[in-house]
This record gives sequence, structure tokens and C-alpha cells, in this order.
Amino acid sequence: MTVSTLRQPADAPVLDVADLNVSFRTRTDDVRVVRDLSFTVARGEVFAVIGESGSGKSTMAQAVMGLLPGTTQTSGRISLGGQPIHNLAPAARRRLCGERMALISQDALAALNPCTTVGFQIAETLMVHRGLGHGAAMQRAVELLKLTGIPSPAERVHHYPHEFSGGMRQRALIAMALALEPDILVADEPTTALDATIKAQILQLLMRLRRELGMAVLIVTHDMGVVARMADRMLVMYAGRAVETGPVVEVFDAPAHPYTRALLKAIPRLDQPGLALRAIAGAPPAPQAMPPGCPFHPRCPMAVAACASELPQPIRFAGGRTSQCRIPPGEVPYAELA
Ligand SMILES: Nc1ncnc2c1ncn2[C@@H]1O[C@H](COP(=O)(O)OP(=O)(O)O)[C@@H](O)[C@H]1O
Ligand SMILES: [Mg+2]
Repeated sequence: MTVSTLRQPADAPVLDVADLNVSFRTRTDDVRVVRDLSFTVARGEVFAVIGESGSGKSTMAQAVMGLLPGTTQTSGRISLGGQPIHNLAPAARRRLCGERMALISQDALAALNPCTTVGFQIAETLMVHRGLGHGAAMQRAVELLKLTGIPSPAERVHHYPHEFSGGMRQRALIAMALALEPDILVADEPTTALDATIKAQILQLLMRLRRELGMAVLIVTHDMGVVARMADRMLVMYAGRAVETGPVVEVFDAPAHPYTRALLKAIPRLDQPGLALRAIAGAPPAPQAMPPGCPFHPRCPMAVAACASELPQPIRFAGGRTSQCRIPPGEVPYAELA
């Protein structure tokens, strides 16, 4: 039986992450950078994970993909289509993840092998995993390049990565990720290295592929604009934790956690070009120097005494939303926050 024919409950989320904790071992101690993180991604859904740099987004993505080095300590449960994968042996996990999940990262050039043609890199995946012959695999590579909007794909398939522009390389990486028709594409800041026009094109491409292929997308970003344009639901990460989760429309409309409110206020307004960007005062805590209580309390305009000593349980409220803040959602009007 091949991995893709394993029976899956039809309504199981494509990805289910529960109580994920990840620590890096340093010379002096263990540094926990992902803390008690839980979320699900439904079939065909675009799920965004947003947070400032250093909040643990890439570590989470690597943990989900099973790509963290063996020295890392990881605990928690991860299921793909209802099947637990956290307890699989590394080889079985790699095989399953290779079949059903694909990762595209910020640095397409580093992710492509400079010594072989783009077409062969796509074809190789199909030869290894699908048993296609060289000719059929190269033909499929041409189709995949075409699907991702690369012009003259029959010629481009024979080019090397350095002959591609930055935007083309990201398209080629997406083509490679699509080769095995994954259930979920994990995209870790896929447009950060690209200029604005190309960035918009790559985001449009991801949306089109999601529509045409019915694939779920887990997009990791620090850009609220990307979340607004692409995602159905979102998770806001701060200092390794999920501080808020919910449908994008509802979170943007009425953010519950003070950190989400602050992030939304920091977006420059296109319709008010003179308005200064309101950055959040202070900096996120380093994982080695996590403050007691709520990790956001030193920067929080709404913090009360208890926030400095106790971490609240996440509050669940209407619409499948959560907020890890002791101040009930909606208690302080959005407009009053600095
Ligand atoms: N291999 C590693 N060893 C030790 N610390 C690491 C390692 N990789 C990342 N970190 C630390 O983990 C934290 C989260 O990093 P990362 O997941 O890359 O955040 P993000 O993707 O949100 O910017 C950061 O403080 C970073 O310095
Ligand atoms: Mg990152």
C-alpha cells in the first residue's frame, strides 16, 4: 500500500498540530522557541501564521515538516489527514511528508541545486516517488512549469537556476513543490526576497493553484497585507506562542489580543499616505530571557498587575476564535489603544 492510498477520515483537518514545543540545545541550556502551540488547517484552506521576526514561525514550519536537526527537542502531536506523524521513524516521516506536504521557503536560490537543470530537479522527484521514466518525468516538468506561469516552459525546463530571475526561481520552486500533488503547501515567507510587483504575482499564483488544485496552504509571513489578501484563517504568534487565532475577516474587524491590535495599527495606510507607521514600542523578548507571566506584558498598553506574574489560559469565544489574554475580547475599544 502506498502512502497516498492510506485511508483518511474525510473530515479530518489536513494538518493538526497540538501542544507543539520546540527547544534548541545551546552550550549552556535549552532554549524553548515554540511553546504550547496548537492549530488546525482544514482541507483547501489558506491558513496564515503571522508574527515579528524571531517569534518562532520558521521553527514551527520546520517542526511540522520534520526538518529540525536531531539535537532539537520537540514534543507535541502532529497529524496529517488524521494520521499521527510525530511518532513515526525519521525515514517513514520523511517519506510521508515528502508525499503529502511540500515546503517553499524565502530563499529559492538556496533551495535549488545550482548544478542541475530546473527541469531535471522537478523530474527527479517524479522518477523517485512516482516511478516515471526520464522522458515522461521531463514532460510533466514542462507542464508544471507552465502551470506556474513560466513562459516558454519547453525551453526553460533545460535551464539552470542561475539563468532564472528571482521571481522565476520562486515559480520553479513552487512547480517542484507541486510535483507530487501535496495536500498542503507550507510557504515560509515565500515573497520576502522579491520586489513588490513580483511578490503580488507569486501571491496570485498561490491563490490560483489553491483554487485549481484544492490544496491547503500554510503561509508564514510577517506582513499583514499578505494575510489580508490570501488567508481564510490566521494565527498570531508572539514569543513562540499562539496569542490569537480566528477567521481573518473577524480578527481584522475586531482583534481580541492587544498584540494583534498593535500589529494591525502598525500597517501603513495606503489611503492616508501622510499617516506615520505606528510601530510597536519595545522589542519582543529573546527566548533566553522570557519575562514571567504574559510574554507581551512589558509592551502591552492594557497590562494589569496580574499580567506580570501569570500566563492566562487562552479564552475561546464565538466563531472558533481564541485569544490568550486575561482581558476579555471587546472590553477596551480598538480605537482607544495607543
Ligand atoms: N538552530 C538554532 N539554534 C538556536 N536558536 C535558534 C535556532 N534557530 C532559530 N533559533 C532561535 O529561535 C527563535 C525563533 O526563530 P525563528 O523560528 O527563525 O523565528 P521567525 O521565523 O519567526 O523569525 C529565534 O530567537 C532564533 O534566534
Ligand atoms: Mg522565519
